[in-house]
This record gives sequence, structure tokens and C-alpha cells, in this order.
Amino acid sequence: MSNWIRVLPLVSLLAVAAAAQGPQVPQSVPNGLPSWAYNIPDKVQPPEPAVPRIVRAPGSSKEYEATAIAGNANPPDWFPDEHPAAPRSVKGPMPNACGSCHLMSGQGHPESADIAGMPAEYIIRQMNYFKSGARKEEARMGPIARAVSDEDVRQAAEYFAAIKPTPFVKVIETATPPKTYVSADARHRRILQDGGTEPIGRRIIEIPEDPMRTTIRDPHSAFIAYVPPGSIARGKALVETGGSGKTIQCAICHGDALTGLGEVPRIAGLQPVYIARQLITLQNGTSAGANAALMKKPVSKLSEDDIISISAYLGSLPSQ
Ligand code: HEC
Ligand code: HEC
Repeated sequence: MSNWIRVLPLVSLLAVAAAAQGPQVPQSVPNGLPSWAYNIPDKVQPPEPAVPRIVRAPGSSKEYEATAIAGNANPPDWFPDEHPAAPRSVKGPMPNACGSCHLMSGQGHPESADIAGMPAEYIIRQMNYFKSGARKEEARMGPIARAVSDEDVRQAAEYFAAIKPTPFVKVIETATPPKTYVSADARHRRILQDGGTEPIGRRIIEIPEDPMRTTIRDPHSAFIAYVPPGSIARGKALVETGGSGKTIQCAICHGDALTGLGEVPRIAGLQPVYIARQLITLQNGTSAGANAALMKKPVSKLSEDDIISISAYLGSLPSQ
């Protein structure tokens, strides 16, 4: 909470600064919620690492001019053999092509969302929630959902639903993760060079395994999530037993392996920071479509520590 108070003046400043930058609008933290789940850029920004003029990803035969793939209109497609033919809404060129933030693999970064293999009906429903404001995310998905046609959404949903997710985050328990900052440019955390370590406190700290490969949107370059010691076992108990009435066993609705059931989404193997952010917003009613109402009871009694533990455990599970 104290973090959040310190972050407040920065958020309003950044909102003004970012208005001019189009897609790089930082999210603000809804009132009273923990700022670590929302990736608010730090005030002091180390210099951005220089991106070479021509970029390549290990294992891909492709190369791109860095400037051609830098915005959100033309995402790079490093491994076209690993996914079905992509519709225009995903690969562009068009403003906010889905593949730019969710990657052509659909697995995204912790500040966006892993939508690979999610049921098409689920993806379409979330787009409708974003559009109507039932799910509030005005920094990114609200405006995107209002701008895109129903047909483009349907094609994108079917595309992402057909992709099999692969492991994309490694969860590590530690009391002292490396010191990190949230990059204004990347919108996720990166290691502060020569910064040493710092206490984890009550947070999940996620960083790319390789920041340059993440910058060029390489879908084979995964993330590391540092979580407080003991989180994974604690999360497992809450998820599997309901923690003596604290919550409801998640598998009832999300399937035995938590990889989804019918239109209920997969929660296994998602980025822990994303899971925590969703549990927090569901708890606070800022994500409240008709189906999201089903999550009201499971999240109502969870503390911030419970949410950290559950997110750590779910992130450590295989995604299929
Ligand atoms: C500029 C970046 C950006 C682009 C482009 C983008 N998204 Fe997103 N998307 C996000 C962010 C950020 C979130 C996470 C919102 C949150 O934390 O609730 C998200 C979340 C989602 C979710 C919710 C996932 C879930 O599991 O509930 C869906 C579905 C989605 N996006 C679909 C799309 C589709 C379809 C497109 C293309 C038409 C698209 N997005 C384009 C940034 C983007
Ligand atoms: C009664 C059924 C039910 C139970 C029990 C349940 N969920 Fe859910 N959950 C849902 C539904 C339905 C959705 C999708 C809502 C929608 O369509 O917007 C959802 C969505 C979610 C999401 C958002 C996924 C995303 O990609 O954004 C998370 C995270 C989640 N649940 C975690 C949990 C956890 C953790 C538990 C156990 C503590 C749990 N759920 C128990 C029904 C349930």
C-alpha cells in the first residue's frame, strides 16, 4: 500500500507525458491496489539498451529492420511454421495488431496476457467486456476493442484458440531477487545493471530471461518470476483444498489440470503477475462481466498474500 501512495504523483505525470506517445500509455493503479501487479514505470529510467538496426532471433531464418517492427502495426513473425495462417487483425498491417502485444504465439508478456489456446468464445467475450467497460482496461484493451470489427475479433479469437501454449515462465522462490525497475519503454521489469539484490517483500517480480529477445518480441524467449519463499506450496494448498473455506477449489470450474474447461479459461502456466492482477481486479469489481461474476465468491476472502501464493503456484504448472 505504501508503494501505491508513493506512486500516485508519478502516475498522473506519466499519464500526461504518455498521452503524446500513443500506445505507450501506462496504466494507472486503481485506488488502493498494490502497484507491483500493474507494472507502473519507475521514475528514474536507466538508458535503454541500444537495439541493432537489423534484428534476428535465435533459431529463426528471418531478419527485420528494428524500426519496421517497433510499433504495434507490424509485429515480427519469427516462427511462421509454429502457428496457423494469421488473419490481418493479428499480423497487421493495422493499428494495434494483436500479435504485437500478445506475440504471434499468443503468449504475450506479463503486462499483456497469455491468450494461446484460450477458448475462442472466451476471447470474444473478453473483447465484448473490454468494449462495454464491464472489464475496465482503458490503457490498452478498451480502446482496441472499440476500434476493431466483430469479424476481425472472431478471426483473431479462432487463430489464438488454435495455438498450443508452451512453458513461458519459470517460477523461482527467493527472499532476495535481483534489483529491478519497470521500464517505461517495455512496460515490464528489467534487471537494474549492477544493482545487486533487494528483499522481495510481498511482491512478485517478473523479468525477461533475455531482455533484448523480449524487446524484439521473440516468442521463444520466456520470463522468470521471483516469488516469496514458500509461496508455491501455500498456493497449491489454497488451490487444491480451498484453504479451509478461504476459497473454492479452482479445479471445479477451471478443470482438473487447471488448463480450462469448456469456456472457462486455462489458468495453469499463465504469467504470475498477470494472474495476480486479474485476481485483484476481479476482487475489486473492475472486471465484472456476467461470467466474471462466477469468480466473485472464489476471490472474495483472499488476502494479498493468498493471491501472491496462488499466482506463484499456477504459474509453476504446465500450461497444457
Ligand atoms: C498495445 C498492446 C495490445 C494489443 C495490440 C492487443 N492487446 Fe489484448 N491485451 C493487452 C493488455 C495490456 C492486456 C491485459 C489487460 C489486463 O491486465 O487486464 C490484454 C488482454 C487481452 C485479453 C484478455 C485475456 C484473458 O485471458 O482474459 C484478450 C482476450 C485480448 N487482450 C485480446 C486481444 C486481441 C484479440 C487483440 C487484437 C485485436 C489484442 N488483444 C491486441 C494489450 C494489447
Ligand atoms: C464457480 C466457477 C469458478 C471457480 C470455483 C473458480 N473460477 Fe476462476 N473463472 C471462472 C470463470 C467462468 C472465469 C472467466 C470469466 C469470464 O468469462 O470473464 C474465470 C476466470 C478466472 C481468471 C482470469 C483468467 C484470465 O485469463 O484472465 C483467473 C486468474 C481465475 N479465474 C482464477 C481462479 C482461481 C485461482 C480459482 C480458485 C481459487 C478460481 N478461479 C475458481 C470460474 C471459476
